[in-house]
Amino acid sequence: MLKLINLYKTFNPGTPDEVRALSGVSLSIAAGSFTVILGTNGSGKSTLLNAVAGTFTLDSGVIELDGRDITGMPEYKRAAYIGRVFQNPFSGTAPNMTIAENLSVASMRGKTRGFSPALSSAAAAGFYERVKSLNMGLEDRLDNNIGSLSGGQRQALTLLMACLNKPRLLLLDEHTAALDPKTGAKVLELTRSVIEKDNLTTFMVTHSMQQAVNLGDRIIMVYKGKLIHDFSGADKKALKPRDLYELFEEIKRRELIDPGVCDILKANYV
Ligand SMILES: Nc1ncnc2c1ncn2[C@@H]1O[C@H](COP(=O)(O)OP(=O)(O)OP(=O)(O)O)[C@@H](O)[C@H]1O
Ligand SMILES: [Mg+2]
Repeated sequence: MLKLINLYKTFNPGTPDEVRALSGVSLSIAAGSFTVILGTNGSGKSTLLNAVAGTFTLDSGVIELDGRDITGMPEYKRAAYIGRVFQNPFSGTAPNMTIAENLSVASMRGKTRGFSPALSSAAAAGFYERVKSLNMGLEDRLDNNIGSLSGGQRQALTLLMACLNKPRLLLLDEHTAALDPKTGAKVLELTRSVIEKDNLTTFMVTHSMQQAVNLGDRIIMVYKGKLIHDFSGADKKALKPRDLYELFEEIKRRELIDPGVCDILKANYV
């Protein structure tokens, strides 16, 4: 289980560029649950995921993963427990290394033994089957550099690498947004199947209302660094894309009336 307790983060404090990106976020995520995060541009969704991954130091707050306080744990150590896929297909893999080498590095993540670039044939065989399961014909190209692949192929491999060691937490930040619709749908289907197969605890950011209603068992909405809505159980199941659009429209309407709207919205949050 993931527990976020009163997270605060202000970027560029005391300067004209000051941004309160997280403003008292508290959240408990059950093990094996799949939470979709929605919010307008700049509302703090990526910052929330980055806080969990340890990309920056929080101003205050506590992050616990499976009962362990990881607030002060550096990003590279958290990577042993946390898999990530970003929006940009060029992030997350090393372009000048082959598919097999990238998978090898991913499989070493979190292991205490030193990094060994040598690939055992057993590992290679395991990689062959895993890459084959993507149904992209990449299993015969394990010796090709990742840089030679398309964005969709890279994103599918990044997902595979992120899930290779069954992470305790999978963070997906608009990971299909940069792909064409057909490839995006394919990567999303792969995402759904790998999450189901390993019952991964997942945190996924999207701007797609359709994805939000189709996937997962919980939807949270972020606005100006605060949680303003939280739907789970029957409430989540009953949501239609239209209901979510209306919540966004409500934000826009209230912003027009009062630019300091966040406190009003916060009052709606239960
Ligand atoms: N490293 C940083 N330095 C300065 N400001 C930052 C940094 N990271 C995020 N911000 C600011 O914090 C706010 C929240 O950004 P964040 O990237 O979390 O938004 P988001 O909800 O993911 O938006 P989008 O939907 O556009 O991806 C924004 O105003 C952004 O400019
Ligand atoms: Mg973002």
